Amino acid sequence: MSQDNQLYEGKAKILYATDDPNILLTYFKDDATAFNAQKRGQIVGKGEVNCQVSAALFQYLEGKGIPTHYLDCPSPKEMRVRNVKIIPLEVVVRNIAAGSLCKQTGLPLGQVLSRPLVEFYYKKDELGDPLLTRDRLTLLNLATPDQINQLETNAREINQHLKTIFDDCGVTLVDFKLEFGLDAQNQLYLADEISPDTCRLWDKTETDPQKRVLDKDRFRQDLGQVEDAYQNIQDRVLNWMSRFS
Ligand code: TMP
Ligand code: ASP
Repeated sequence: MSQDNQLYEGKAKILYATDDPNILLTYFKDDATAFNAQKRGQIVGKGEVNCQVSAALFQYLEGKGIPTHYLDCPSPKEMRVRNVKIIPLEVVVRNIAAGSLCKQTGLPLGQVLSRPLVEFYYKKDELGDPLLTRDRLTLLNLATPDQINQLETNAREINQHLKTIFDDCGVTLVDFKLEFGLDAQNQLYLADEISPDTCRLWDKTETDPQKRVLDKDRFRQDLGQVEDAYQNIQDRVLNWMSRFS
């Protein structure tokens, strides 16, 4: 893709226009950031893993009746997607206490939640992506009350599907982040990516709190063997898809 078509460069992806105004091209980079880009680095092979894992999961979810922005992958690090307007929200689903939930509530790492928690964060780097209440979401006109309910329903349904897949792969789905977009008819689509960058994934056969980590926490916490963890998740997910979907 030429520079001329570039619409936007984010921390992990570059977005390009295509000849069709309804279709965009996403290029997945190896660049990695954490803590609102205070920590920067590269994870070799990450772009391809995140693109391929996301493509497989989007295709699976689409087959289960969840509309996604995914169209196809013209190359291993490139995904063609529907041109939707991204709602500036990070919809986080948590099955097990980790990360900011532990920091902000004191819940112990690894505590299984009696019901999955769905949270909304404002996608705004300059504010540090703050946690929002439903009233603040409405106040900021980020989504209507109906859309908020639909986001939560979709997020819970996606969680059920992803939990099943990862469980079969020998991986515990601790938590993950989703983004959604709207088309010109206000139809809601699952967008962005679902990958080791955006999920916490623990190897079920490991109890050691560092060894079990198969996601971006290896980079965030300098645990080493980051590339191996990403590759491991790609192998397990693509292998599962080839056997069961
Ligand atoms: P948190 O515990 O840091 O709030 O993260 C919850 C989940 O969201 C975790 O799976 C990682 C993912 N996440 C992102 O995808 N992007 C982000 O910028 C952050 C902070 C978290
Ligand atoms: N999205 C975060 C950042 O802004 C990275 C993360 O912790 O996932 O750098």
